[in-house]
Amino acid sequence: MAWRNRPDNEWTISLLEINNSENILEVGFGPGQAIQLLSDVNASVHIAGIDHSETMLASARQLNEAAIAAGRVNLQLGSAEHLPFADSTFDKAFSINCIYFWKEPLQGLRELHRVLKPSGHVAVTVRDKKQKAYQAFRPDKLTQLFAQAGFFSVSVHHNGVRSHPLICVVAAK
Ligand SMILES: C[S@@+](CC[C@H](N)C(=O)[O-])C[C@H]1O[C@@H](n2cnc3c(N)ncnc32)[C@H](O)[C@@H]1O
Repeated sequence: MAWRNRPDNEWTISLLEINNSENILEVGFGPGQAIQLLSDVNASVHIAGIDHSETMLASARQLNEAAIAAGRVNLQLGSAEHLPFADSTFDKAFSINCIYFWKEPLQGLRELHRVLKPSGHVAVTVRDKKQKAYQAFRPDKLTQLFAQAGFFSVSVHHNGVRSHPLICVVAAK
């Protein structure tokens, strides 16, 4: 998963236009590759992550050991639908290849909206596939869900890679 998803991580992070010293959240970090990438690219940001799998938490902690020891990364168990953070904590938040698994995608987006600071931004990346399993995550459905969760300036981006098509929804609080 880690190797296959590297382009997804790079593209999503680039769309968020992260600035120095920002407070960033990833929901569903899996093996922790996106967090490692981001903390390597910008050592001034603080990154928090949650994932509901103990196995993934252990892998991601191992991969990001140095940044965690330096106090730049904080990873914990948690669910997208009940984020363990106070309101208005983060400048930016992202989630990659994860929203399909949320029991309540709208509740997860509402939680992302809650923990973002005013004018914070979120990016959610999914595979651009037309099969039935992805029907709830097509651009029109996602745009509607983001608006329902309270986001505005909702834009849908396509990576334009035919062999590995992705959609990323970027929105502002
Ligand atoms: C397909 S993996 C993607 C991991 C990583 N974002 C990537 O693209 O390489 C999905 C991850 O989301 C986590 N996950 C799924 N549903 C979740 C939820 N409701 N709350 C928190 N994490 C969740 C899984 O444990 C898994 O690590």
